Amino acid sequence: MRIAVLGGGPAGLYFAALAKQLDARHDITIWERNAADDTFGFGVVFSDETLGGIEHADVEIFHAMRREFARWDDIDVHFRGTTFTSGGHGFAAMSRKRLLAILQARCAELGVRVLFRTEAPDVAALAASYDLVVAADGGNSLTRAKYAATFGPNLERRRCKYIWLGTDLVFDAFKFYILDTPAGIMQVHGYPYSDRASTFILEMHEDVWRRAGFTEAAGLMPGQSDEQSIERIRDLCGGVLGGHELVANNSRWVTFTTVRCQTWRHENVVLLGDAAHTAHFSIGSGTKLAMEDALALAACLHEQAGASVAEALAAYEAERRPVVASTQRAAQASLEWFENLGQYAGQDPHQFAFNIMTRSRRVTYDNLRLRDPEFVAGMDEWFAASQEDGREACPPMFQPFRIGRLELANRVIVSPMDMYSASDGVPGDFHLVHLGSKALGGAGLVMTEMVCVSPTGRITPGCTGIYSAEQEESWRRIAGFVHGQTDAKIGIQLGHSGRKGSTRLMWEGMDAPLPEGNWEVCGPSALPYTAQSQTPRELTAAELAEIKDQFVAAARAAARAGFDLLELHCAHGYLLSSFLSPLTNRRTDRYGGSLAARLRYPLEVFDAIRAVWPEERPMTVRISATDWHPDGLEIDDTIEIARAFAEHGAAGIDVSTGQVVSEEKPAFGRSYQTPYADRIRNEIGTKYGVAVVAVGAISSYDDVNSIILAGRADLCALGRTHLYDPQWTLHAAAEQDYTGPGAAWPDPFAAGRRRPAAGRTDGPRPRLELIRAGAPRTAHARWRPGPVMTDSAS
Ligand SMILES: Cc1cc2nc3c(=O)[nH]c(=O)nc-3n(C[C@H](O)[C@H](O)[C@H](O)COP(=O)(O)OP(=O)(O)OC[C@H]3O[C@@H](n4cnc5c(N)ncnc54)[C@H](O)[C@@H]3O)c2cc1C
Ligand SMILES: Cc1cc2nc3c(=O)[nH]c(=O)nc-3n(C[C@H](O)[C@H](O)[C@H](O)COP(=O)(O)O)c2cc1C
Repeated sequence: MRIAVLGGGPAGLYFAALAKQLDARHDITIWERNAADDTFGFGVVFSDETLGGIEHADVEIFHAMRREFARWDDIDVHFRGTTFTSGGHGFAAMSRKRLLAILQARCAELGVRVLFRTEAPDVAALAASYDLVVAADGGNSLTRAKYAATFGPNLERRRCKYIWLGTDLVFDAFKFYILDTPAGIMQVHGYPYSDRASTFILEMHEDVWRRAGFTEAAGLMPGQSDEQSIERIRDLCGGVLGGHELVANNSRWVTFTTVRCQTWRHENVVLLGDAAHTAHFSIGSGTKLAMEDALALAACLHEQAGASVAEALAAYEAERRPVVASTQRAAQASLEWFENLGQYAGQDPHQFAFNIMTRSRRVTYDNLRLRDPEFVAGMDEWFAASQEDGREACPPMFQPFRIGRLELANRVIVSPMDMYSASDGVPGDFHLVHLGSKALGGAGLVMTEMVCVSPTGRITPGCTGIYSAEQEESWRRIAGFVHGQTDAKIGIQLGHSGRKGSTRLMWEGMDAPLPEGNWEVCGPSALPYTAQSQTPRELTAAELAEIKDQFVAAARAAARAGFDLLELHCAHGYLLSSFLSPLTNRRTDRYGGSLAARLRYPLEVFDAIRAVWPEERPMTVRISATDWHPDGLEIDDTIEIARAFAEHGAAGIDVSTGQVVSEEKPAFGRSYQTPYADRIRNEIGTKYGVAVVAVGAISSYDDVNSIILAGRADLCALGRTHLYDPQWTLHAAAEQDYTGPGAAWPDPFAAGRRRPAAGRTDGPRPRLELIRAGAPRTAHARWRPGPVMTDSAS
């Protein structure tokens, strides 16, 4: 096969070497515009996992790389005069220059033609005369731009500025230095890559960068570094450098751009490495991804030798896309964490260290415990000591928590879940068994579904209410069971369906109007939820007052029924939520317009309930932190919403997202709503003493421990996971060998407490699997991603 490769970076060179090694008949030419030793940057990092794949693919390259490696296990976090070390990470790094030299040498040995200092010919001409064109032409790929209509690139410029430098200070670990400067927080990412040098990247939010007086250097020639900035960085980082030198190599300020493409294939042209996708350097994955791409492409071409190039490229993309998407998700979480670094400046250094270690959400409490049990034990002890009465160390999810004046035995909540199983709004035996079994299952707090304040405030005819004596009595029976038979507390979620009412049971057609017997729906404005939905009637001031009275009556009934906590449902597009969102509230009276005006009615309802709800019992509010719509609510608005409810006396904010408009475009994934809880906790929760609840695709005890210990939330609500396993909390305790407070098995169940012989509640986690380990010459690595949960819900 005749193969043209554009770009002699890690992706292009490694692909060419592997393809040629697999089939010496291939005629491969690489065009590289730079000279052989003319490259930017300093060191590149590989994890042990990546190296497994590289070792099996080409032992020669691997051995040559291994001779160069600086290896270390520790990550040091330097923050406010403290240093925390987490061990067992298994990294290797080497100079980018040496890596390229090794790959170049291997290409030469195998007979790959490399044309240095040569601009690649027009890609269309190459595509016409070669069987395959591999565009490994980097982050600014001209090929990607040329075929943009097919590749559908999306380039997302982020909000931090960074500069890649080197130093002759040889770090003994991967280093994070957090610098608290008058301009704001900056961070250094440093790691050794030889016995003489380290990579030294300084990064900061663009606002901090501007306040610090940095500017883009004008008129730099290609290859020139921004010496003026570097001189200032020498001063700024003098404490870190301790007299050592900073070295520049084509070093200048860069704004990281995340590259994503709809496809990586255009006829016989394929994008590889940074040309196809980028991942923020804070998870050290750019070169790793580029080389894994190369490995997979070479293997797919080899395996599909009898098939067409198009088929081989399709197989390649099918294999790599989920892996790249998963890495990009982790990289995105990590880069957003650094963009928002300022919000963690007030955290205790212990919490900060754990937080930074778990920032991508891929590294977790359990991962860290395996790597360095002492580090995690120290964190558990600090967390226990930081609790109100100084507790015994235990997995963080089992630390008790006080929300307002309500004591919860642990940090797990059964999230509100509508069961659509009531008749005439009366909760029956089904609800007793459903909620009772969850309470027996060990959660600290069990929430009812959205309980409606009037018949027309129901979502479906199967929804429960608390507007009749019979309903109240039935709820009293359920609350009584929970209090009499378990250690759990029980909360009621009160809501009104608004424009999303009068619809079918979930399993008969979610959000679809009833086939018959519809009731009139209402909302802030006459805007239907979907084209099929009823158009709601815009509520008058008198009707708003009436609905507020219904909420108050429901709250009084809930207090009499014995609920411990009341949550006001201001999320998911139901009545109160639809007042908050500019997409659903177009009123021109005092309840519409600015955010303050849109907040007015939900706050009036909140205040009216708070006035009758027993003072010692907490009230929480569930909000949708984003509408997942460009014109809708986003986190900056939600911060103000959370602040308003906190100032009106909310004891907790339960942070969900979306379901406000049907045109939403949510980004689902593991614990995908947690960053919103994180921001609300660190900006509002800690300031007002308000508890923050994270919810959404949190399904492992490991994630719960990580979220709580990192300070991303105070409590975690789990929905579907509890439908799968009502005893989830007790099982989580058993699997962590924990038998202390907060995990008490009901006496009648005690015989079942022994640790199960096999199995975990938290399902398979992403891990690297060497699918062809040991198979000579064609082995390559592949991620097997864990299940990505999509949201359902109401
Ligand atoms: C500050 C910073 C720190 C980083 N840290 C790490 C790290 O620690 N670990 C890690 O794994 N990765 C890291 N990376 C990322 C890493 O450098 C890239 O992800 C990696 O180099 C991608 O390899 P590539 O072959 O796809 O692209 P590149 O390395 O960019 O190679 C593309 C090549 O194509 C050539 N080229 C482009 N157009 C043409 C043309 N028209 N004609 C001829 N030649 C052309 C270029 O000259 C270049 O040599 C970092 C990146 C930055 C910016
Ligand atoms: C069957 C079902 C019913 C739900 N009903 C409600 C509800 O009544 N009120 C509410 O606020 N959220 C409701 N939700 C959303 C959940 O409380 C939770 O926020 C969502 O399922 C995401 O969490 P999970 O990934 O742990 O399931 C419901 C979810 C499900 C699956």
